Amino acid sequence: MKTFITKQSLAAYLQLIRASGKTIGFVPTMGALHQGHLSLIELARQHNDVVVCSIFVNPTQFNDPKDLEKYPRPIAADTHLLQQAKADILFNPGVKEMYDDNEQWHLNIGELEHLLEGKFRPGHYQGVTQVVYKLFNMVKPDTAFFGQKDYQQFLVISKLVELMNMPVELVMCPIKREDDGLAMSSRNIHLSADEHRHALVLSKTLNWAKANFDGSNFDVLQKEAERMINAEDGVALEYFEIADGGTLHPADAASKKVVALVAAKVGKTRLIDNVLLRS
Ligand code: PAJ
Repeated sequence: MKTFITKQSLAAYLQLIRASGKTIGFVPTMGALHQGHLSLIELARQHNDVVVCSIFVNPTQFNDPKDLEKYPRPIAADTHLLQQAKADILFNPGVKEMYDDNEQWHLNIGELEHLLEGKFRPGHYQGVTQVVYKLFNMVKPDTAFFGQKDYQQFLVISKLVELMNMPVELVMCPIKREDDGLAMSSRNIHLSADEHRHALVLSKTLNWAKANFDGSNFDVLQKEAERMINAEDGVALEYFEIADGGTLHPADAASKKVVALVAAKVGKTRLIDNVLLRS
């Protein structure tokens, strides 16, 4: 695996790859890699000739400076995992390589900006679109792979690609879970054993909603799910929403795709998860 820390050296190398007719698959990450990330690398390997993974803890998407500060950065272990997963290229730039001083960015992503995650993490998706736009321009991938785990992020990036006319195909990859059901996340290492146990209410409630969805009982499911999560010690629910999979507005009978999404704080750790009820 080749590692690049400057955009120029990355671009020069990728130019040669493209000239040789090979396709490029791209997996952007913030590191602290787990099986969820590695499953994206694996799918990228199946779809494309060359796989690029980026590790960059993007400051502009953090609305809480403490969250940014304590975000894990185990670069040696990550590099090892990427080698094992047979990624071809790691792009691991520093903040100065990615951003000039006082750079401004705003993209009109419509209502996705303020719904659900947007409401609880103001400005988050501006930071995400800002960095993904830069990364896409540097890597120029044929295909880019994102997890269903961050369902709203996928919709936001689809909107970015549409608005900026970017020639990249986006693939949504299934959520990887621990054996006990907890969705894998770089933030899970902050959970104590007790918190981990309490956090299981999120995936359990999503599974319960999936098993009890009859196609129209949106409100009943949502209220009962909220009750179940609120009853769990140490878990502070932010939202549980049964939403239209395209707009993230509350689902109704006309919604072709229906997704249940949840966000909660378990102790100090914020977790999100979701499940498709109708796809
Ligand atoms: P990060 O949280 O590191 O996630 C990188 C990719 O891994 C995202 O597409 C995310 O949805 C996916 N992922 C995370 N947990 C997963 C799981 N349990 N199963 C499957 N996929 C999972 O998302 C970001 O970084 C950043 O916002 C980024 C897009 C890199 C922009 O900075």
